[in-house]
Amino acid sequence: MKNRVAVLHGVNLGALDRRPAEIYGGLTFARLERRIETYARELGLETRLFQTDFEGEYVQELHKAADFSDGLILNPGAWTHYAWAIRDAVEIAGLPAVEVHLSDVDAREAFRRVSVLDGVCIARVTGKGADGYRDALEHLKEAFTA
Ligand code: DQA
Repeated sequence: MKNRVAVLHGVNLGALDRRPAEIYGGLTFARLERRIETYARELGLETRLFQTDFEGEYVQELHKAADFSDGLILNPGAWTHYAWAIRDAVEIAGLPAVEVHLSDVDAREAFRRVSVLDGVCIARVTGKGADGYRDALEHLKEAFTA
């Protein structure tokens, strides 16, 4: 049974508690990761958590992802809106992927309405804060059992 999920956070997400609380909820990144681990445990899934501020490292992690995971949760931060190399790397990974954003990116600045992940993910969850990761894990669990 597939149950391994790699959760990849990108640029600036490690500094979550220093970003506008009205947009991002004011929680620390460490707390967000604990929430994700708790949700995963409740759903019988295993997580591998990764965060980087370097796009090349994010891409390299995606290249390796199929060695240690069955599915992906991706929140690349601002790279979402312009880093096409990340889209290509998701294709290379060849795993079911869910795009997650804490904030409602479609209701913010126009540049946030573009997503390089459009078309390479099985689902997209936005604007639900940390709870959105639970939805993402549920999407993957469904994909694993399909
Ligand atoms: C984000 C949304 C992005 O537009 C932004 O650049 C981020 C965080 C989110 O989780 O809401 O860094 O991905």
